[in-house]
Amino acid sequence: MTNPLTLDEEQAAILEGLRAEHKFINPKYFYNHHGSKLFEQITELDEYYPTRTERKILQSRANDIAQLIEPNSLIVEPGAGSCKKIEYLLEALHPSVYVPQDVSAEFLQQSAQRLSKDYPWLDIVPVASDFSDPIEIPRRLQKLRKYAFYPGSTIGNFEPAHALNFLKQMRQLVGDTGGMIIGVDLHKDNETLHAAYNDKKGITAQFNLNTLSHINEILDSDFNISNFEHVALYNSEQQRIEMYLKSLKSGAYDVLGEKVSFEKDELIHTEHSYKYTVDGISRLANASGFTLEHSWLDEQELFSVNYLQSA
Ligand code: AVJ
Repeated sequence: MTNPLTLDEEQAAILEGLRAEHKFINPKYFYNHHGSKLFEQITELDEYYPTRTERKILQSRANDIAQLIEPNSLIVEPGAGSCKKIEYLLEALHPSVYVPQDVSAEFLQQSAQRLSKDYPWLDIVPVASDFSDPIEIPRRLQKLRKYAFYPGSTIGNFEPAHALNFLKQMRQLVGDTGGMIIGVDLHKDNETLHAAYNDKKGITAQFNLNTLSHINEILDSDFNISNFEHVALYNSEQQRIEMYLKSLKSGAYDVLGEKVSFEKDELIHTEHSYKYTVDGISRLANASGFTLEHSWLDEQELFSVNYLQSA
């Protein structure tokens, strides 16, 4: 049967994942409006240590970080969103320009406006662009010393090869005299990690399952969320959390006029969240043209904030 609809590229990419031998959905589809709200709730859960631990490190170490960063520089933040985390550093680092980048132009504009009220001395230059496109720094700002800020262990969502590519891009962006401040979640005991992605209130489960609602909006499909279950496990060999949606029964769903069928217990892969050792971060830095100058950890060594200097 021929498909009566012309699939746009996004729909086609999602459908390809659902037709694959091992089904998958890109983790970016967690984040529709409801999903972003759920993620905010995750960051406040007792079990989810990364956000609060990173915040504590940034707040308590801002002055130490500032020792390694030239003032009156330019700070670029890929995927800046709400532009909240940079606030922990602005007073101490005192850049002259902040370039937050995000896919959502409207959200970015609002965030930039809020920030400009509190930091009237800061030149804020928002850049709305797709995540996969290289960030363009306006010509007039190119002569400034440049640093990238990449908090939240977002790098953990990348496969190792992709993480390397991303850091190489950042290295190119900041040039020979720049650097990068990056928050990275650390490898640790299975129990702590398992609990962080299997919280008692079931918010992470809702967050994961919401992907199917989001996909339903985009593909006009009819996935029934109650037929699926949240699965998150730590693969300690690969040092990554693996998240899946498990089909509780066999069944088929309409996706753009085609059927996508599931066997009982079949999995859709939705996320990898890689955990690093400080050694691993150092190796990744070296491989991408940086040197790891310093890592700041919390007392329990749950999370790291790292300064990478262009080599
Ligand atoms: C936003 C990718 C850092 O991997 O911990 C939280 C996303 N997934 N709970 C993470 C997430 C499930 C989060 N990152």
